[in-house]
Amino acid sequence: MRPFICAANWKLHKSPRETREFFQNFQTLNQEHKPSLDQSQSRSSLGRVRQAIFFVPAISLEAACENRGDYEIGLQNAYFEMSGAFTGENSISAAKELGVTWLLVGHSERRTLFRESGDILTRKVEAGLRSGMKVMLCVGETLTERESQKTMSVVEKQIVEGLSQESLKLILQKPQLLALAYEPVWAIGTGKVATPEQASEVHLFLREILSGRLGQISKEGTSLAATEIPILYGGSVKPENAKLLGGMPGIDGFLVGGASLVADQFQAIIDA
Ligand code: PGA
Repeated sequence: MRPFICAANWKLHKSPRETREFFQNFQTLNQEHKPSLDQSQSRSSLGRVRQAIFFVPAISLEAACENRGDYEIGLQNAYFEMSGAFTGENSISAAKELGVTWLLVGHSERRTLFRESGDILTRKVEAGLRSGMKVMLCVGETLTERESQKTMSVVEKQIVEGLSQESLKLILQKPQLLALAYEPVWAIGTGKVATPEQASEVHLFLREILSGRLGQISKEGTSLAATEIPILYGGSVKPENAKLLGGMPGIDGFLVGGASLVADQFQAIIDA
């Protein structure tokens, strides 16, 4: 069974000191909630093993890695070259040295504010997978696209663009290296959450697309690898809506922005 992943996307929040403080609070809370369970994994009322990942600002990665306990830490962005004359960029290999295991690619803020094109995202996914890092690829439509019935074609294009033949081959060998996050742009940071039905419909469609893409490159012409890839929902996830969304077919976790900044809110989402 696929794990249920609760991923925190801190964006540009929390200094190294605040990161240390957060983990101290979070570990204490977690011990109070689940004294008998492994720190990194707990079981929700829905019965699936839950894992937590923290995508923290690059400058706080070291503080996070030193205080993470058994949780996994991710980069919010990295360049596709490991080193060189790339002023201001983050290196995947340097982050690996700290103990970072995940890379977030294609968040809508990267696509729009930082103008990351399909080609750049493709290369970032390839670089992450090639280095053995786990990659979480984000996709999602804008409000205009949803209103003009383009949601499915937009997310399909983002998946096709994001996952090159090389990436698909690596995923076929090791499906646990990939997770997808469906984040409708109109739901990010707006308090407007997709209905459980809207989210579930897109998640089921994404798995079909993944299955088709992976099947095409497998020798047998079909592959079960897609069934192992978690697909997370993101966009205004809160303790109040987590249980309903998390119980929907095809939803394997959450990518949480605002509500992941407060330890007890994020814990409540994990426990939902
Ligand atoms: P939000 O952000 O939970 O604050 O809507 C989600 C995200 O941007 O990943």
